Amino acid sequence: MLGMTLTRFIIEQQRQFPGVSGRFTSLLEGITTAAKIIGREVNKAGLAETMGLTGRINVHGEQVQKLDEFANTTIIHALDHTGLLAAMASEEMEDFYPIPDPHARGPYILVFDPVDGSSNIDVNVSIGTIFSIYRPPGSAAATAESFLRPGREQLCAGYFVYGSSTMLVYTTGRGVHGFTLDPTIGEFLLSHESIRIPERGAIYSVNEGNAAGWSSGVRAYVDSRKEGGCSARYIGSLVSDFHRNLLKGGVFLYPGDRKSPEGKLRLLYEASPLAFVAEQAGGAASNGTGPILDLAPKTLHQRVPLAIGSRLDVEEFEAAVSGEAPGGD
Ligand code: AHG
Ligand code: MN
Ligand code: MN
Repeated sequence: MLGMTLTRFIIEQQRQFPGVSGRFTSLLEGITTAAKIIGREVNKAGLAETMGLTGRINVHGEQVQKLDEFANTTIIHALDHTGLLAAMASEEMEDFYPIPDPHARGPYILVFDPVDGSSNIDVNVSIGTIFSIYRPPGSAAATAESFLRPGREQLCAGYFVYGSSTMLVYTTGRGVHGFTLDPTIGEFLLSHESIRIPERGAIYSVNEGNAAGWSSGVRAYVDSRKEGGCSARYIGSLVSDFHRNLLKGGVFLYPGDRKSPEGKLRLLYEASPLAFVAEQAGGAASNGTGPILDLAPKTLHQRVPLAIGSRLDVEEFEAAVSGEAPGGD
């Protein structure tokens, strides 16, 4: 028995929810094709020429890994000819990328983090890709404003984890579903249907190396996790930390601190897509004062403080930091 392939699952979803158009299906399939290619490179990163640094510095002042660039290019080439996208934006591109040929444009826009957890590439720790699809109002010729939409307007969001297996987890607003790549046939097979995150977890994930700069509210919250007997788990790849907490329950934090009041993670292609998944699985995602999904970025690479995971854990975080200015006392 082959099992439920991603293609069949989407077709059956289409039947149930006519709003999910066929065009959208080939978008999702294009993204999974890119992920299979990226996953192949990840699995041989120790051997391939994609290891190491390019020597370039990106818009965030961070070293660009060869795999970041490879993955960025792979996603663009997998989707730029589909006639479905007006433009794309990614962590690795300073400005958005309009589809060059006006005849090859469509109504959707794609935002993505091609490789999340880049610092883990060379040490064989799991990393991921995050993506999100919008259909901004107005003409097919995208502008910068087309990307500055609140996360609530996302049509689809999800991520790939390149770990002990390659997994796809995504939502179109009708629950969260997980697929595991069977490399022997190159198909993503349904392995986690209708994922629900426990409303309270026993795991907290935060880089405690930043504790000296936290506000008193953040510090008190993290102490409460310890006093509550929670386990500390921190991989350093947002996608992997989030995925574990989604399945087991728990909270991931990247709060602001004195040095970076808005934290480190980017709203458009890290926090918003995972917030959509979290809420669809019964969890929550907050910047400390309110839902991530209510926030519209003012710039493509805007950072945002993030608490994401089990609903009650996130609500307790909001209570702990309520009334504080972003980034601290
Ligand atoms: P990216 O590799 O796309 O830049 O993302 C890295 C992010 C995220 O994946 C992770 O949670 C966080 O950086 C880890 O940051 P610290 O090393 O500061 O904890
Ligand atoms: Mn990232
Ligand atoms: Mn990245």
